[in-house]
Amino acid sequence: MTLVMSLISQKDNELLSWLDNAPQTNEVARSSIIFAGLSVIAEEFKKPISLFELGSSGGLNLQVANFDYEFSGQKFGNKNSKLQLMPEWSSATPPSISVDVVGRRGCDLNQLSVNNECDCEKLVAYLWPDQIKRIERVQIAIEVAKQSPPLLDRADAADWVEDIFVNTEDNGSVKVLFHTIAQNYFPQSVKDRIMVAMEKAGQLATEENPIAWLVFEFEGDGNPKLILKTWPSNKVSILATADPHVHSVSWVN
Ligand SMILES: C[S@@+](CC[C@H](N)C(=O)[O-])C[C@H]1O[C@@H](n2cnc3c(N)ncnc32)[C@H](O)[C@@H]1O
Repeated sequence: MTLVMSLISQKDNELLSWLDNAPQTNEVARSSIIFAGLSVIAEEFKKPISLFELGSSGGLNLQVANFDYEFSGQKFGNKNSKLQLMPEWSSATPPSISVDVVGRRGCDLNQLSVNNECDCEKLVAYLWPDQIKRIERVQIAIEVAKQSPPLLDRADAADWVEDIFVNTEDNGSVKVLFHTIAQNYFPQSVKDRIMVAMEKAGQLATEENPIAWLVFEFEGDGNPKLILKTWPSNKVSILATADPHVHSVSWVN
C-alpha cells in the first residue's frame, strides 16, 4: 500500500492524464456475443464478412473469428485457438455456420497497439489486479492479435463511419459495423451522425451488397442488449442480453 501511495505521488501528472480519455478496457469476453451475432448475419446473407469496429481500444474484439467458443456445450469459432470463451448460455444457441471474416478495421480516439509494449501494459492495467482469469484472457488475446493485428485508425467514430465505413468499396462481403460498450462514451451529436450515415448507407444497400449494424450496448435500463439491424431488409432484431462482461448470455428465441 505504501508503495502504491508513493508511486501515485511520484507519477501524479502522468496518472492524471489517463483521466483525459474514456477508460480503454478492452473486454475480450464480448467477442463471444459478437461471434454469435455474426453467425446470424452469416446465415442470413451466406456471404463472407468485412468487420468495422467503433471504439476498438486495442482491437482485441476484431480477433472475434480467431477464438474458440463453447455455448451450451456446442463448439463454435476456431477450435485451434489459444483462447477459449465459454459464457453461461441460456435458451437456444446461435446458428451453427462458418463465419468467414475477410476484412477487419477499427477506430478509436486513442487506439492502442498490440505491437507496443506500453499499450499492452495499459490494456492489462485497466483490469482489477485480483481478476486473474480476466488478466490471463486479455494477455492471451494480445498474443493472438500479434499474429495478425487489424488496421486501427485514430479517429472519432462519426467521422470514421462517414469517411471509412460508408466509402469502403463493396467486395462481395457483408459490411458489418459493430461496437461494444463504447456508445455511452460518444456525445449525442456523434451518435446522431452515425445514425444518419447508417440510414443513408442502408438505403444504398442491395441483396448483392448488404450491410449490417451489430451493437452490444446499454439501451435504457438493465443489462446491455445485442441488437442487429440489416439492410436492405431494414430489419431490427434483439438477439440477446448479457451482463457487460459477458459471463452469462440469454439468447432470445
Ligand atoms: C470502454 S472502452 C470499450 C472498448 C471495446 N469496445 C470493448 O468493448 O472492449 C470505450 C472505447 O471507446 C473509445 N471512444 C470513446 N469515444 C470515442 C469516439 N468519439 N470515437 C471513437 N472512439 C471513442 C475510447 O477511447 C475507448 O477505447
